[in-house]
Amino acid sequence: MKLRFNNVVPTVVLFASLASALASPPASLKHKRAPVQPRRVNSLLINPDAQPDLPTLKAATAAASTAGLNLDDIQGDILIGMKKKEQLFYFFSITDAAAFKPLLADDILPLITTTTQLLSVSTQPITAVNIAFSQTGLNALNVTDALSTDTVFSNGQFADLANLGDPGSTNWVPEFTGTGIHGVILFASDTQDNIDNAVASLEAALGDSITKVYSLSAAARPDDQAGHEHFGFLDGISNPAVTGFTSNAMPGQAPVAAGTILLGETGDAQVSTRPAWAKDGSFLVFRQLKQLVPEFHQFLTNNPIVESGLTAEQGSALLGARMVGRWPSGAPIDLAPLFDDPELGADPTRNNNFTFQHPDATLATNQTRCPFSAHIRKTRPRADLGTPEESAHHIMRAGIPYGPEALTIYSCLWHHLDRTWSRFRFAYQSSIANGFRFLQKTWANNAGFVHAGVGVDPIIGALAGAQRVIGGLDPTDSTKTTTLTTDFVVSRGGEYFFSPSLSAIASKLSV
Ligand code: HEM
Ligand SMILES: *[C@@H]1O[C@H](CO)[C@@H](O)[C@H](O)[C@H]1NC(C)=O
Ligand SMILES: *[C@@H]1O[C@H](CO)[C@@H](O)[C@H](O)[C@H]1NC(C)=O
Ligand SMILES: *[C@@H]1O[C@H](CO)[C@@H](O)[C@H](O)[C@H]1NC(C)=O
Repeated sequence: MKLRFNNVVPTVVLFASLASALASPPASLKHKRAPVQPRRVNSLLINPDAQPDLPTLKAATAAASTAGLNLDDIQGDILIGMKKKEQLFYFFSITDAAAFKPLLADDILPLITTTTQLLSVSTQPITAVNIAFSQTGLNALNVTDALSTDTVFSNGQFADLANLGDPGSTNWVPEFTGTGIHGVILFASDTQDNIDNAVASLEAALGDSITKVYSLSAAARPDDQAGHEHFGFLDGISNPAVTGFTSNAMPGQAPVAAGTILLGETGDAQVSTRPAWAKDGSFLVFRQLKQLVPEFHQFLTNNPIVESGLTAEQGSALLGARMVGRWPSGAPIDLAPLFDDPELGADPTRNNNFTFQHPDATLATNQTRCPFSAHIRKTRPRADLGTPEESAHHIMRAGIPYGPEALTIYSCLWHHLDRTWSRFRFAYQSSIANGFRFLQKTWANNAGFVHAGVGVDPIIGALAGAQRVIGGLDPTDSTKTTTLTTDFVVSRGGEYFFSPSLSAIASKLSV
């Protein structure tokens, strides 16, 4: 297979977790909604073959009705996953809260795109809009109820930097250093012009009530790279199947309760302590990650795996696939250990159907097929932590590359699910911030997970800038370690947000 040598480097990562649900859906939402407008003929979402399809409106409506979920009250970005074409993240601070509140209800709320609206092309807006607030943003609105029993969200991401393995804040976007960002508005469409128009008209409506602090554009990569992140690997294959939303789970897709993602719903471990208005909201973790693309490919070129029957180029490709755990096509190395298998990669009924467990291999020691350190094994160890796999270990990602292809500047955005980690003897609360942080800190950055000597995740593992020693990358010698002196993914910071339900925007947040 041919590796892509992009001369691009920066990557931005956005993590978000969403959580909440309704015991019984409201008969109708009383707040203002825009009439369904002249709409589009082309979807604003991508749909690569390899990713599970979104449910049809009919199927999602039936699933939601059975589960008591109100998809009209849940912001559209939360459950959709990694399918946006073009996106703009507009970070703002609230300069005049008294002026902003009525504008939130009258001008922003009517634009907020629901989950239901995104499921049919005919009801998709020209530009989808979602909004989320940081703790300091909620404070500015006089909304001070504790959303979580931990303080990860309320303290903000800057205070959490050391826990994430970042080497201080020297690489951080200056606007993220501190707690000055009050919220983020997410715009999504199929063209930048549509987004620019939506931004301009919203800015005109909001006037001086807010100030733009920072913005970031992101886009699915073009043509056959759609859905691929900047190192060239297909992403968005393995996201959990959410009760009340996903209708047709693929083999290997992890089933999770709605409360894993949505606050206040069944399965939310903190359901009894969430404020009522937080129900059906979700925590959104935004991480801007820069990918050192040429450095990554140069490393592969310089260190091909030497195995009989493989050319040097194939050995380099194999090394990259073993670092990720999947080939560029999306085919898992657990099922395709030596060569990419694009047919397998493109088949969502097969490309996620594996557990790392095989009859001819000892699960606890044998990493011939997939290294314990591989990115997808670090972030979802499947059978490594026992079977059946616990649903608490799954996260929802909504990443998107950012930066124009021509400049080879890329970004990724993810939404992460709220989860419970208690099984792993960590007393973390079920919260998206803790979920993301747990994955980054306790799994990816932990050289002793899932076994002693495994090393950190070679893609996202971070040790505050120190060199990283990775085990298991060479299938011919499991005792060999590889020392990485470069972090191929560099944190540029971010913030933790809460993405409220539409009814919370209409009531608690705007009065
Ligand atoms: C620029 C940074 C990153 C890149 C290039 C990247 C790339 C990838 C790729 C190619 C996949 C395989 C596609 C799939 O299984 O859907 C994947 C899966 C995944 N990534 Fe990342 N990722 C990045 C950052 C992160 C971070 C920071 C986290 C969490 C802390 C994370 C968590 C996950 C999870 C949970 C999966 C799915 C594993 C599974 O279900 O089997 N990723 N990533
Ligand atoms: C927030 O509460 C304070 C104290 O009650 C009040 O003075 C202020 O006007 C409130 N601000 C808004 C935007 O409601
Ligand atoms: C998934 O994997 C199992 C076990 O290997 C196999 O029996 C089953 O047929 C696979 N499903 C599909 C759709 O390929
Ligand atoms: C490890 O697993 C591979 C493939 O699953 C198998 O061929 C090999 O014999 C196993 N090695 C040992 C030492 O058991």
